[in-house]
Amino acid sequence: MEKKLIINGGHCHNQFWFTVLLSFVFCFLLFCFDYSVLYSSNSGVSFYSEKTQKANQLAAIDEPSEIPDSQNFPFPENNVSLTIVNNVTDPCSGKYIYVHRLPRRFNVDVLEDCRNLVKWFNMCPSLMNSGFGPKVETPQGVLSEKNWFETNQFMLELIFHQRIKQYECLTNDSSMASAVYIPFYAGLDVGRYLWGYNVSVRDSSAFGIVHWLRKQREWNRMFGRDHFFVAGRIAWDFRRRIDNESDWGSRLMNLPEFMNITVLSIESSSWSNEFAVPYPTYFHPSSDIDVIRWQKRVRARKRRHLFCFAGAPRPTMKDSIRGEIINQCLSANQTCRFLDCKAEGNKCNTPVEVIKVFRDCKFCLQPPGDSYTRRSTFDSIISGCIPVFFHPYSAYAQYIWYFPKNYTKYSVYIPEIDIKTGNVSIDRALSRYSEHRIKAMRKEVVKLIPKVIYANPKSRFERYEDAIDIAVKRVLERVNKVGEITREGKDPSVEFAAGNQWKSKLSGIVGDQPLEPLF
Ligand SMILES: *[C@@H]1O[C@H](CO)[C@@H](O)[C@H](O)[C@H]1NC(C)=O
Ligand SMILES: *[C@@H]1O[C@H](CO)[C@@H](O)[C@H](O)[C@H]1NC(C)=O
Ligand SMILES: *[C@@H]1O[C@H](CO)[C@@H](O)[C@H](O)[C@H]1NC(C)=O
Ligand SMILES: *[C@@H]1O[C@H](CO)[C@@H](O)[C@H](O)[C@H]1NC(C)=O
Ligand SMILES: *[C@@H]1O[C@H](CO)[C@@H](O)[C@H](O)[C@H]1NC(C)=O
Ligand SMILES: *[C@@H]1O[C@H](CO)[C@@H](O)[C@H](O)[C@H]1NC(C)=O
Ligand SMILES: *[C@@H]1O[C@H](CO)[C@@H](O)[C@H](O)[C@H]1NC(C)=O
Ligand SMILES: *[C@@H]1O[C@H](CO)[C@@H](O)[C@H](O)[C@H]1NC(C)=O
Ligand SMILES: *[C@@H]1O[C@H](CO)[C@@H](O)[C@H](O)[C@H]1NC(C)=O
Repeated sequence: MEKKLIINGGHCHNQFWFTVLLSFVFCFLLFCFDYSVLYSSNSGVSFYSEKTQKANQLAAIDEPSEIPDSQNFPFPENNVSLTIVNNVTDPCSGKYIYVHRLPRRFNVDVLEDCRNLVKWFNMCPSLMNSGFGPKVETPQGVLSEKNWFETNQFMLELIFHQRIKQYECLTNDSSMASAVYIPFYAGLDVGRYLWGYNVSVRDSSAFGIVHWLRKQREWNRMFGRDHFFVAGRIAWDFRRRIDNESDWGSRLMNLPEFMNITVLSIESSSWSNEFAVPYPTYFHPSSDIDVIRWQKRVRARKRRHLFCFAGAPRPTMKDSIRGEIINQCLSANQTCRFLDCKAEGNKCNTPVEVIKVFRDCKFCLQPPGDSYTRRSTFDSIISGCIPVFFHPYSAYAQYIWYFPKNYTKYSVYIPEIDIKTGNVSIDRALSRYSEHRIKAMRKEVVKLIPKVIYANPKSRFERYEDAIDIAVKRVLERVNKVGEITREGKDPSVEFAAGNQWKSKLSGIVGDQPLEPLF
C-alpha cells in the first residue's frame, strides 16, 4: 500500500497531524533505517597496451535509450513532491533510487571511444567484466584461484553503474525515489582531453550534462540536492576555477548545479558535498567465503620485511617526500623492500607482483604522489599490510565512510614535515612497534578488506557490505537528511559548503597524535 503525500510549499492545512506524520516518517528514514545487503562489483590501475580486445567487451553494457526532453512536463516548481511508501509493506521504503537515462554521449559513447580514453595506452581491455578488466590468468599461488582481475584504477564509473543495475530498490517512478543517480562517466570522458586540449573541449560534457539535467523534472524537485554521481578520477581533475588554458582539468564540479549534487570520487577535495570512496583494486570476490578465505591467508602470512614501498620518485615536485622515502627504504637494508615503479613500472600494475611484495611486509608506506591519495593504499589493505600515512588528507579526511575513526588502530601516521626535515627515521619509528601491537593492527586492517573492495556484481554477499553497499547506504542517509531539512523549511547548505572543509571532514578522527597543522 502506498500513500502519496504532497508537501505544498510549506503550507499545510493541518499542521499538527502533518507534523506527527512527518516525524514518524523521518524517524523511520533516519533511525529505523534497515538497509539490506546489495549485490556486488569493482576495479585498479593497469596498463595493457599489448592486448587488444574487440568491441564486444561492450556487449555487457546496456545502452540507455534516449528519453525525450521533459521541458514541458507539468511539474510545479514550488511543489516539493514526495511519495512516501508504507514501510510495513515495502522493505525498500526510504531506499529507492532512480537512475537517469542519459543520452549516450555521457556514458556509452565514451566507452566506445576506449582506445582514446588515455593518451598512452589502449583502455579497451579494462572495460571487460563490468569494468574489472581481464581476469588474472596465472595467479601463481600468490593469489587465490579466482576473483582477481587486472583492474584499472580509473574504472569506478563503469563498475558503479553496472552494479547499481543490480540494486534491489531501483524504481522507474522518480517521485518515489529518495536519491537520483546520474550515470555520467565524467572521469573517463575528461581523461581523453586532459592533455593538449583547450578548455572548451574539456568542458564540453560538463556543460552538456548540466544543460540536460536542468530540463529534467527530477531536477526541479530539489535542484539536484537529491542527486548523486560517481567520478572515477580525483576531484582535482574537475575543479578548474577559471578558463586559463594552462589550468588543469574541467570545471564540472565548480558549476553551480554540481555544487548541489553529492559527488563520490576516489579522492575528494575539501568541499562538503564530496565523499571519497576506495580506489578499485584487484580483488573482486563473489561470496563471503571467498573473502573469509583470503582474510585468513593474509592474516596468517609470515612477513619478512618491516616495511615496503612501491612507487616512483617525483623529481619535478619540489615538495615531494618520495625521494627521501626511497632513500630511507634503500638505506634500511633488509628491513625495507622497494618496488621501483620507475624501473619496473609493469610490475607495479600487475596484481601478482604487487601482492607478492606487500604480503611480505608488515608496514606499507603511502606518501602522497601526484595527489594526496593512492590506489596503493587499497592494495596494501587487501594484502594485510598496515598503511603508513604522511598526510591526513591521504586517508583520514578522505575515506570517512570506510575507515575507523581512531586511525591509530589500523595505521601509522608520520607527519610529512618530519620526513622533510629529516627528523624521523622510518625504520626506527616502525621498529618501536611490538609484534603484539602489529598483530592487533593487522587484524584491524584485515577487517577492512570487505569494506574497501568492489564485489563481483554477478553474485552477492550475505554477510558483508562492500564499498558500494556502504556508499549507497550513506548517500541515502544523506539525501534523506537533506530532504528532511528542506521540508522543514530550513537550509541544508552546510551539507554543500564550498572548499576548506577539511577540518569538518576530520572532525571525530582521533589517534595517538594530533593531525595538525593542516593547510
Ligand atoms: C502544488 O500541487 C498541488 C497539488 O497537486 C496543486 O493544487 C498546487 O496548485 C500546486 N502549487 C503550486 C504553487 O504549483
Ligand atoms: C516500519 O516502522 C515501524 C515503526 O518505526 C518499525 O517498527 C517497523 O520495523 C518498520 N517496518 C519495516 C518493514 O521496516
Ligand atoms: C524500468 O524500465 C525499464 C525499461 O522500460 C525496464 O527494463 C526496467 O525493468 C524497469 N525497472 C524497474 C525497477 O521497474
Ligand atoms: C578548441 O579546440 C577545438 C578542437 O580542437 C576547436 O574546434 C575550437 O575552435 C577550440 N576553441 C577555442 C576557443 O580555441
Ligand atoms: C594563466 O596562466 C599563466 C601561466 O600559468 C599565467 O602566467 C597567467 O597569469 C594566467 N592568467 C590568468 C588570467 O590568471
Ligand atoms: C541549488 O539549490 C538551491 C537550494 O535548493 C537553489 O536555490 C539553487 O538555485 C540551486 N542551484 C542550481 C544551479 O540549481
Ligand atoms: C645497512 O648496511 C650497511 C652496510 O652493511 C650499514 O653500514 C648501514 O648502517 C646499514 N643501515 C641500517 C639503517 O641499518
Ligand atoms: C585509539 O586506538 C589506540 C590503539 O587501539 C588506543 O590505544 C587509543 O586509546 C585509542 N584512542 C582513542 C581516543 O580512542
Ligand atoms: C627537527 O630537528 C631539529 C634539530 O634537531 C629541530 O631543531 C627541529 O625543531 C625539529 N623539527 C621538528 C619538526 O621536529
